Amino acid sequence: MEVIILPTAEEASEVAARLVAHQLRAKSDSVLGLATGSTPCKLYQLLARMHSVDHLDFSRVTTFNLDEYIGLDPAHPASYHRFMEENFFTHVNISRDRIHIPDGLARDVPAYCDAYEKGIYDAGGIDLQILGLGSDGHLGFNEPGSSLSSHTRIKTLTERTRNDNARYFTDDREVPHHVITMGLGTIMNSRMCLLLAFGKRKAQAVAESVEGPVTASVPGSLLQFHSRAKVLLDAEAASLLTRADYYQWVYKNKPPWQSDL
Ligand code: PGA
Repeated sequence: MEVIILPTAEEASEVAARLVAHQLRAKSDSVLGLATGSTPCKLYQLLARMHSVDHLDFSRVTTFNLDEYIGLDPAHPASYHRFMEENFFTHVNISRDRIHIPDGLARDVPAYCDAYEKGIYDAGGIDLQILGLGSDGHLGFNEPGSSLSSHTRIKTLTERTRNDNARYFTDDREVPHHVITMGLGTIMNSRMCLLLAFGKRKAQAVAESVEGPVTASVPGSLLQFHSRAKVLLDAEAASLLTRADYYQWVYKNKPPWQSDL
């Protein structure tokens, strides 16, 4: 696990954007795993700018989103379909038929989830998975207690996550209880993980994920077992890390050949 701490979320997002661009330039038909929420918004803006200014090409890219609420129409303002459309897909030259977001209106949820998982496999697996971190330590919508080898399936949100996400809904009671999410096993199968976490609100979950024991009680901690996981933090999110000075020294003193920026 490589921990990269930058002073601000903007600077950390710039590093994330450069890593994604590096991936796409090395493999133009990359499969990206995408996240929603406030955390990756800046990253998507920067990628859209790289597309319009530097001609970063998304035409051969395939995407799989981590999760979606069950019962929300794709047109609902709080749906992750709508989020992705507004924050990313309309701003880059991605091919519509290569975009995959779990269908929150699927009739047969278990069969749908199996097919989603197979879709990832058939596309060759995820090359780079972008992740946010819940204040309760969740990855995707894999809440604490999720099986560490789980695949795409239905999950029930904790009240903490429902409260965290209520800001996207006009009425708190409207926040769905159920979601479809890639599993922790699905995430771990991706070739590279980029976890972004910003702000004081995430500091505890970051500390437990990066320096705590690996446990299903903190899904983010599973990334300690991933062979290529990078954790991009702003100073506030990193504020409870005991080895912050070491991570910063490592990042500043990388030999040039080790950098993939
Ligand atoms: P946030 O959510 O980016 O809106 O903080 C992250 C998450 O719940 O995974």
